[in-house]
Amino acid sequence: RGVHIINVPFGLGAGTPGTEHGPEAIWRAGLEARLAGLGLQVTKAETVRLQEDGAEADRQDGPQDGAETRARNRAAVERLGALLAPRVRAAAAGGDFPLVLGGDHSIATGTLAGLTAHYPRLGVIWFDAHSDLNTEATTPSGNMHGMSLAAALGRTIHKLTDIPGAGPLVRPERVVLVGARDLDAGERELIRREGIACFSMHEIDKLGIARVMEEAVAIAGRDADGVHLSFDIDSVDPREAPGAGTPVAGGVSYREAHFALELLAESGKVTSMEMVEVNPRLDPEGRTAALAAELIGSLLGERIL
Ligand code: ARG
Ligand code: MN
Ligand code: MN
Ligand code: MN
Repeated sequence: RGVHIINVPFGLGAGTPGTEHGPEAIWRAGLEARLAGLGLQVTKAETVRLQEDGAEADRQDGPQDGAETRARNRAAVERLGALLAPRVRAAAAGGDFPLVLGGDHSIATGTLAGLTAHYPRLGVIWFDAHSDLNTEATTPSGNMHGMSLAAALGRTIHKLTDIPGAGPLVRPERVVLVGARDLDAGERELIRREGIACFSMHEIDKLGIARVMEEAVAIAGRDADGVHLSFDIDSVDPREAPGAGTPVAGGVSYREAHFALELLAESGKVTSMEMVEVNPRLDPEGRTAALAAELIGSLLGERIL
């Protein structure tokens, strides 16, 4: 069994630069040795990047007029998605475990487009302080990392099915939000309207992370042919994951995060993962990237004993 890693050094979907350095920081934290320790080989590692990414000149100043353009760096996010989706599809088809390293969370639409091309009935566990369910009409920031799940559900102007080679849209009944604690009004409305399962911090406090993960796997896996874990590092409390551009207090603890991913590993249901929003510029000590590498290890079967 191997792991197929796709690095996505992309940060134009976020309001704060730096996530484009996420993949290199996670590798530097010893990812490959950690996987080797689990008996897992990196069978392929590739990088998907835009020619002009890293050029801050591509950054626009703010939300513009009109719903069409109320999404910053939209053209770059769309081009990235078109490059990423076929790579993810090929990774899933190749039989190794696809592991996407972001990058900001706007890359998820491309990841999911590639995954649903291979798994048309994909379930999604969205581990995040946020829900990323804004549309061009509801986004308070214009940042596309806050819109990628809405795009995967087909609620935005540029949606998953607009990506060449994409599979079908993700179905709301197979989406589970875990760790939410900062939702915008339009996002709450969409969650309610679509009946999207949401285990916010309130439910985690009340039920415990073990019960939440058990239910999350059941919902995402219902009638599914694959289950994807989209892990935004800002789900973890900022005290433990300081390198995130949109930190929100009161997140899951270091132990809860590890335990959650250990339980997902035990379930044997997760068929792909992406790790996003690691911003090494905000964390010169590299604690956040180290945590990201450890959590990937937990999801891929690392055990204490
Ligand atoms: N809801 C806020 C917005 O739309 C924050 C989104 C943060 N998203 C993320 N992937 N970190 O701007
Ligand atoms: Mn840079
Ligand atoms: Mn997110
Ligand atoms: Mn987030």
